[in-house]
Order: sequence, then C-alpha cells, then structure tokens
Amino acid sequence: MKLEQSFMDFMLHHQERHGRSYNFLVLLEAVQTAAKYIQYFYQTGSLKNVMGEAGITNCQDECVMKMDDIADSIVLHYLRCSNQVIYAITEEEPEPIRLNEEGGRYFIYYDPLDGSSNIKHNLPVGFMFAIAKRNLEGPEDGRLRTGSELRAAGIFLIPNGVFTLALAETGVFRFHLDETMTYVIHENPTPLVMPEDSKTWELSYNASNRTTFSRPVQVWIEEHESKYAFRYMGSLAADFHRLLSNGGMFMYPAIVNHPRPEKNRPKGKLRLLYEANVAAFIAREAGGAAIDEAGNDILEIAPESPHQRTALYVGSRPLVESIRGRLRASA
Ligand code: AHG
Ligand code: MN
Ligand code: MN
Repeated sequence: MKLEQSFMDFMLHHQERHGRSYNFLVLLEAVQTAAKYIQYFYQTGSLKNVMGEAGITNCQDECVMKMDDIADSIVLHYLRCSNQVIYAITEEEPEPIRLNEEGGRYFIYYDPLDGSSNIKHNLPVGFMFAIAKRNLEGPEDGRLRTGSELRAAGIFLIPNGVFTLALAETGVFRFHLDETMTYVIHENPTPLVMPEDSKTWELSYNASNRTTFSRPVQVWIEEHESKYAFRYMGSLAADFHRLLSNGGMFMYPAIVNHPRPEKNRPKGKLRLLYEANVAAFIAREAGGAAIDEAGNDILEIAPESPHQRTALYVGSRPLVESIRGRLRASA
C-alpha cells in the first residue's frame, strides 16, 4: 500500500525549511476546509436544488447563482474563524470585509466560485484565491496589494478535487483529494513547470468573441491557431488548470469591436485581484508569464479598486511574449 503526504505536512515542512510562521498554516487550513465544504455542496447540489440562480445580481451587476452565495458564505466563515485575516475581498461583496484588523497578518482576495456558467451542468468550477502579507515592519496602511507582492495563490478545482498552490519563490504544487477527503501529494514532490516543448500547447479563449477583439489580436490568432489545439471550458479555473500542465495560452482579450458598442469591454472581463493575478502568479512560479491589453505584466499592475477588470493573456512565455510584441506595436 502506498500512502502519500498530507497537504498540512507538506506545508509544515515548507514553513520550517524557510523559517516562516505558523500563522500562514492556520490561514491555509481555513482555506482548504472551505474548499472541502464547497466541494461537498457542489457534488450533491443538484439533489438539494442549489445549482440554479439566486434571483439577485451582485455588486458587479452579474447574475448570482445559489452556489456562488453558498461558496462565499463558506469561505468567509472559515476565514473569520482563522483569525489571521485583516480584510478579505470577495467577488460577491462590493467592499473589502474587515475581519481581524488588529491581529490579522494577511490579506486574501478570492473568487469563491469561478466559472458560474458550468454550475448547472456540474462541470468544473474553481475557488481561486491570492494571499498577501501585512506590513510587519511599520504601520499597515491597508492598501490593495499588487500581484508581485503576493505570497501565495491557488485554485481548487471543484468537483475534481485538485488543488494547485503557488508559493512565492518556491514553485507550484498540486494536491489531490484522497478517499478520506484529505488533500495529499507525493512524499518528495517535484514542482510543476509548464512544458517548454510546444507539442502539447493549447490555445484557450471564447471563440465567439473573436471578431470583437482588436485587429492585431485577430491577426495573431489567424497566424497561430492552426499550430495548437483549441480548448475552452468557460471557467478560467478549469481552462487555466489544463494549460498549466499542457502549456500554451489562455486569453480573455479586451472587447473593442462589438457590433453593439455598449457591449464593448475595453478593460477586459476578468477581475485583476482574484482572477487574473491568481493565474498570473501561478504562471510565473511555473515558468510562464501574463500580460494585459497594453502588454504590461499583470503582476505589476497597481490595483485601484477591489473589482477592477483587466484583459488577460497568460501561459507559456514564448506565446505571451509573441502577443505582447503585437499589442505594443499597435499601441
Ligand atoms: P465567474 O463565474 O466567477 O463570474 O467568472 C467567469 C469568468 C471566467 O471563469 C471565465 O474564464 C469567463 O468568465 C468566461 O466568460 P465567457 O462566458 O464570456 O467566455
Ligand atoms: Mn470568476
Ligand atoms: Mn465567481
């Protein structure tokens, strides 16, 4: 019988090896407990009739599904219990949620359930999060952190039971839910690195938006699409999950040529703090890159508001650099 190492053992060794605090473990314990509860509700949700719409819209004027609400309450509950968080930013609430302003050491930005259009089909969704640390040297001003300041970012793929975690200056690791609902990994895991060989690379974007992209992006697609397989599940968490193992590029470009101009999204659709930065940070730790529509590194964008949007090109560095050249040339 082969037994694996639990997520918490892995993290404990990691923190000790790097002389880091146990507070981070307490926070990650809360995060993984929340993920397991979301997993449980998601798996059995159809039977409980919670896979439909909640009948309300959120602060971003997007239709809220019952599962979005359930997942958000679960995450918030366990974050509150952990006592480690100064404030949390969630996709589902307009303002940052103040939790433990005195004793908390971390900021967490999260999307409790990414890929809502997959919910009613029980297809993959994700709980995505990014963690930054408070200023321990002086007064904490509570400003929004840029991606380059993150200490960790992760995606729980639900209901598949796979957890991808990127740790700053350490790399990316993948954990799997075992029979006892414990996230586990091999005893001596090797960090996940995106493949350099383009044989497995894929392109991932919403093809029905194609004619709404800027001309340089359309031309880039025309020139490159035949070289790679095309995959799109409609959930960044799931699409990016594939891409990390196979390489290639996920993109959600700015929408600038929509036949109904009011539907244009010149700033893109995805949210910087809890979608784009999560993918960008994981990509960086796995050897990849991520940029916005101006060709700037996603991780260097200074956030101005909790729900700010950005275009996103993320994946294998050569592809991201190639489209960066086009975006910059046309700017
Ligand atoms: P959410 O379900 O959290 O609102 O996010 C949906 C996002 C992201 O997961 C996905 O990549 C993208 O929206 C899909 O958008 P389209 O349906 O426009 O392709
Ligand atoms: Mn999302
Ligand atoms: Mn969401």
